[in-house]
Amino acid sequence: MTSYKELGLVNTREMFKKAVAGGYAIPAFNFNTMEQMQAIVQAAVETSSPVIMQVSKGARAYANGTILRYMAQGAVEYAKELGCPNPQIALHLDHGDSFEICKECIDNGFSSVMFDGSHLPYEENIAITKQVVEYAHKYDVTVEAELGVLAGVEDEVSAAESHYTKPEEVIDFSTRSGCDSLAISIGTSHGAYKFTPEQCTRDPKTGKLVPPPLAFNILHQIEEKLPGFPIVLHGSSSVPQDEVDTINAFGGKLPDAVGIPEEQLREASKSAVCKINIDSDSRLAMTAAIRKHLAEHPDHFDPRQYLKPARENMKKMYIHKIVDVLGSNGKL
Ligand code: G3H
Ligand code: 13P
Ligand code: ZN
Repeated sequence: MTSYKELGLVNTREMFKKAVAGGYAIPAFNFNTMEQMQAIVQAAVETSSPVIMQVSKGARAYANGTILRYMAQGAVEYAKELGCPNPQIALHLDHGDSFEICKECIDNGFSSVMFDGSHLPYEENIAITKQVVEYAHKYDVTVEAELGVLAGVEDEVSAAESHYTKPEEVIDFSTRSGCDSLAISIGTSHGAYKFTPEQCTRDPKTGKLVPPPLAFNILHQIEEKLPGFPIVLHGSSSVPQDEVDTINAFGGKLPDAVGIPEEQLREASKSAVCKINIDSDSRLAMTAAIRKHLAEHPDHFDPRQYLKPARENMKKMYIHKIVDVLGSNGKL
């Protein structure tokens, strides 16, 4: 058993309490690679922001769970080395799909876990979430649950159709499961194609898709039912069109990629939404920089030559999210 406390990590309880009270949101950035980890830490330190580093099942399969755990431990030490004596970094399991995987992560240094039972029947979702909570709380690990289903086609946990969270269920669900935070479905979804062209209108000047707004009415109803309770938004990449254009200009093919407009995330951050998940925007920032670099330097073959600008571009994106969208800068 390795406690996250020995690694210098923190759970999400205090972070969320302050974020809800202060009207901002904590960034939850997925990471799979060393460059992503470095960029996240640099951005968090330079902006004095708490941060959640999250690991998906796919990340564990790609990079190895143990390596990622040590990278998170390294992230704490790296933050100190960069001049932040008391960093607030949580290591979170993203979309855990069984009690067993949640337990394994808790036993191996994670400070926070998600049990995603959103695709299960309601009672089963409550029962397994409760089982995870009972185990996690023995070790002061916080638990995120999910109610409602996000649409999306690009990851292992997606569903073909979304079902908004039902506000009338949230009190019963959070009370009986004992979860510390709740991910809800109000129109966000995973990946770089969050809406079909049919669901959007098109800007006549740019030809770009304009997505439908998030269901803020549902968010507000949930906030009324659970005052001050930490709410989480998954699928919150904005799919920056400058990155998409760069990718497409240098040989990529991402037609009609579209995300959640940042002004809507800014608005959500001011509410009980206190954790906003961003993964795809990091992938886009990395890919855009690498495609551009390799196109402009066809003679380069040392990965450091193209991973350096990729890391810089991700860092710029993370800082922008922290400062201009979520408002978690200066909150350490
Ligand atoms: O929620 C999904 C995250 O973007 C992780 O995606 O399963 O491809 O690592 P992944
Ligand atoms: P995006 O695909 O919008 O970045 O969402 C990431 C996410 O929700 C991770 O759990
Ligand atoms: Zn997610």
